[in-house]
Amino acid sequence: MRNAQILGTGSYLPATRVTNDDLAQRMDTSDEWITTRTGIKARHIAAEQEKTSDLATEAARRALAAARVLPEEIDLIVLATTTPDMQFPATATIVQHKLGISGCPAFDVQAVCAGFMYALNTANAYIQSGMAKKVLVIGADIFSRIVDWEDRATCVLFGDGAGAVVLGASEQGGIIASQLHADGSYLHLLHLPAQMSEGQICGSPFVKMDGQGVFKFAVKQLSAVADAVLNQAGLSHADIDWLIPHQANRRIIESTAKHLGLSMDKVILTVDEHANTSAASIPLALDAGIRDGRIVRGQKLLLEGIGGGFAWGALLIEY
Ligand code: UT7
Repeated sequence: MRNAQILGTGSYLPATRVTNDDLAQRMDTSDEWITTRTGIKARHIAAEQEKTSDLATEAARRALAAARVLPEEIDLIVLATTTPDMQFPATATIVQHKLGISGCPAFDVQAVCAGFMYALNTANAYIQSGMAKKVLVIGADIFSRIVDWEDRATCVLFGDGAGAVVLGASEQGGIIASQLHADGSYLHLLHLPAQMSEGQICGSPFVKMDGQGVFKFAVKQLSAVADAVLNQAGLSHADIDWLIPHQANRRIIESTAKHLGLSMDKVILTVDEHANTSAASIPLALDAGIRDGRIVRGQKLLLEGIGGGFAWGALLIEY
């Protein structure tokens, strides 16, 4: 069976780094509160002129260079984001243009923090069916522009960034199993209710979250979906070399690792430095683990995550 294999990865973080202490000077919070509740110490924030497509294009260039693939060889671009440059066209088409190419299909997927897994899964289906040979998959978000900076319960949790992978067809390994789910009945726990209508923004344009509700749902479903994807591949917990989770909260990640019987040194953890970068968080962590040499060819990677109101899933990759 032909699957999508990772040929190269890349990522990009905006230059400005904001620590918890920086935030504590602007609002009623503390490094101690944020660190103990979430594990977050800092986040990167996009500059005023930077757009999601800028972050995405830089991550894509780095992934293409790592894969030794030219932009012209890409025959599909799938980009996961909740913070597109504009209502339309898709940010994927803007990235395509910035990469100096045209013609291949390019579209966005929206599954909030689970978006990168939805995008990878879509790309895998294109490669398995023979409809694409080399796919650029990107997760990119600028959540700093959709959080209410007056709401300390949400704004401290998020950061900006982008991560990308170049996928190619492989007869061995690659994406060997995937499980995706969604349940819109949980919309009230995590959503952003605004929409554009008749020239106006209707509803609040900021993230609304029931933190404890999200926490409980995430802990339960992420363990279940990790089991399901291992079961699908006929593997056990002991076969996992690296857990690469969505980076929202260290305590949620620890709970999944504990369920899988993995020590934290088998987990790629970037939440401390990146905070929650939504669709970018998993590819940012993946790129960090590959570039610093922890993740090597032949290892089995379990990617998992959950996003707004709710979409979630897990993927197993034989790298
Ligand atoms: O991709 C999915 C994204 N979302 C998540 O993963 C979120 C999952 N949930 C969580 O991570 C946690 O629920 C939070 C970190 C968001 C909150 O932790 P918590 O332990 O559930 O706190 P809480 O919401 O119950 O708030 C406890 C207290 C409250 O004060 P009172 O009412 O007890 O006096 C809050 O007002 O903490 C207060 N608080 C803060 N204090 C200092 C809320 N935000 C802050 C803050 N700094 N930034």
